[in-house]
Amino acid sequence: MTSRGDRTSGDAAKRVAKRIRALVEDVNRHLGLYHGEDAPEISDAEYDRRFRELQELEAAHPGEVRADSPTRRVGAPPAEGFATVPHRVPMLSLDNAMDADEMRAFEERIRRALDREGPVAFLAEPKLDGAGVELVYEAGALSVGSTRGDGRMGEDVTANLRQLGSIPMQLAGDPADHPTRLSVRGEIVLPRAAFARLNEDRVARELEPFVNPRNAAAGALRMLHDVDLLRLRSLEFRAYAVAEGLPEGLQRQEQVLELLRSFGFRVSPECRTCPDVEAAITTHEAYLELRATLPVEIDGTVFKVDDLALQRDLGELARVPRWAIAFKFPAQQETTLVEDIFASVGRTGALTPVAKLRPVFVGGVTVSNASLHNQDEVERKDVRVGDTVVVQRAGDVIPQVVQVVLSKRPKRTRRYRLPKKCPVCGTEAVRSEGEAVTRCPDPSCPAKLRNRLLLLAGRGALDIDGLGEKLVEQLLEANLVGQPSDLWALSREALLELDRMGEKSADNLLAGLERARQTTLARFLIALGIPEVGGGVAELLGRRFGDLDPLLAASREELEAIDGIGPIIAEKVQVYFEEDAHLDEIARLRKHGVRWPTAPPQEDAAPPEGPLTDKTFVLTGTLNGLSRHEAKARIEAAGGKVTSAVSKKTDYVVAGEAAGSKLKKAQELGVSILDREGLEALL
Ligand code: IVH
Repeated sequence: MTSRGDRTSGDAAKRVAKRIRALVEDVNRHLGLYHGEDAPEISDAEYDRRFRELQELEAAHPGEVRADSPTRRVGAPPAEGFATVPHRVPMLSLDNAMDADEMRAFEERIRRALDREGPVAFLAEPKLDGAGVELVYEAGALSVGSTRGDGRMGEDVTANLRQLGSIPMQLAGDPADHPTRLSVRGEIVLPRAAFARLNEDRVARELEPFVNPRNAAAGALRMLHDVDLLRLRSLEFRAYAVAEGLPEGLQRQEQVLELLRSFGFRVSPECRTCPDVEAAITTHEAYLELRATLPVEIDGTVFKVDDLALQRDLGELARVPRWAIAFKFPAQQETTLVEDIFASVGRTGALTPVAKLRPVFVGGVTVSNASLHNQDEVERKDVRVGDTVVVQRAGDVIPQVVQVVLSKRPKRTRRYRLPKKCPVCGTEAVRSEGEAVTRCPDPSCPAKLRNRLLLLAGRGALDIDGLGEKLVEQLLEANLVGQPSDLWALSREALLELDRMGEKSADNLLAGLERARQTTLARFLIALGIPEVGGGVAELLGRRFGDLDPLLAASREELEAIDGIGPIIAEKVQVYFEEDAHLDEIARLRKHGVRWPTAPPQEDAAPPEGPLTDKTFVLTGTLNGLSRHEAKARIEAAGGKVTSAVSKKTDYVVAGEAAGSKLKKAQELGVSILDREGLEALL
């Protein structure tokens, strides 16, 4: 019999393990959004809080530290499409201090580690809110520039970096003083003014504006196709460290910065030495005052032990140096009133609760709406209409409701629940078992039509120039489009009736539609929006059948016989083509001249060429929301191979929840490990 005490401590241990698992998953996801997609969903402050909670739990329960914990790595693995570059000296991250006491504790740790009585002098540098990069110079000439990636391997972005005026192609000064190999570290930033211009331009072109200069900078750096030279050229590189090639005889961090200046690099002019920790804290406060006047975004102060010999004595931990810290600025918060909560219907029919706020100026902009994400999130924060809430917009990230000020809650408020019916079409909304999202299931919901049009117009599908979100909304509002094929029936006159539609934009759209008619079968299949049919599957179907009619006539067995297509996809495809409404729409699209080159069907199609050609994968664990089967299909459709055993020849191990020995083996062999997001990024 277990005693009551045993059971409670067992329960507590289970709760800790569960919380750790949830945090690992959550932080990894946000890390992926931040680094992999340059599109964060939460503020840095919120990210830091979750990261810290995880760190603290792991410190208290070392047995529960998971292999895939984000505390064990920095950044995200490099994206496919760029060559990878190893960082000979790893690019580390920085520990954070959130207030003056944490800064004092940092200094105290240093003094203890060095067994030293006197004060420690620091060099204060603005913490630049951009993307970290490494520039390697050989014999004075720029040879490789790379992103931080996961700290050990970055992406080779030399070609893009060469466009930046602030990056010297050749080091300045006497060539005799140039080290054989010099590795310079610094930050790529997009000055505020350029950021504002860029977003104005994007809005004018009906593109979504960037959330903040950091994302715009990181995105620009990693442009692989359609390189936007103007955006690239407005980026700026600021140097702050030398990782290799530091000449002997330098004693202080300040001299490192002087050296960098003498080589022709820009260094933040605000850097200054602080004789002790109290001076450091005062400097930090001065930076906070200065912040709004600086040409670039900063989100705190980086303090580095000024004495290089002491830096070496202190050394590094796995992820961060012991001799430096990022003292962060407080998140920018304001309180305001929740005037209403409504549900908006998103791209996939997902119902998202949104708080309509009394407009409030926070973090440099007026905020009047904030997403509450989903029903669980609303319940967790218990946000109600009439509540006073704390709103945050740290580092210019999407505004969020941090918490309710309960003391200000008026009497007789009610908990918010998402509506039972879709607010757009009135269909009963559904929330499937185990899902956080509530959806409108009606395929003809206007919100979905909007999404269908956006999918069809997107890059991977028919790539219709000039058809962005705004215009789609306008077309729907004016009742000009009831189904995608109606796009090709639009007249110039009807377009010109739309608000703010000039002759040039109208002609642009018509020309875009004209060009989009000529496509490929695979792109056409993507454009239809058949469930489960993304790029990879569409390629497989296109290759196997060569034209649409043989595909329409295919039996489920024939579909399943295709390597890479399993019963689930086969069923979805067949069900889709069984519906008259779909067939009618296809007929209309063809009648409007949408066409593709046909090819003879290929019985046993050779493995397709794709971004993953010649890459070998091993799958292990459960991949949150993606079946093993589908993962295999999609990898194969992109040209990759899936095998069962991990060896040195394996290129990637895709590890999900509860991954076991294969993950361990991969770690031992140094094989790259991906999570679901990483795999999606590759695909
Ligand atoms: S030093 C080992 N100095 O902040 C020291 N980093 O949160 C690591 N950053 O990865 C870098 N301004 O990308 C340093 N003046 C500065 C910085 C700075 C911004 C970035 C850097 C780093 C990240 C850590």
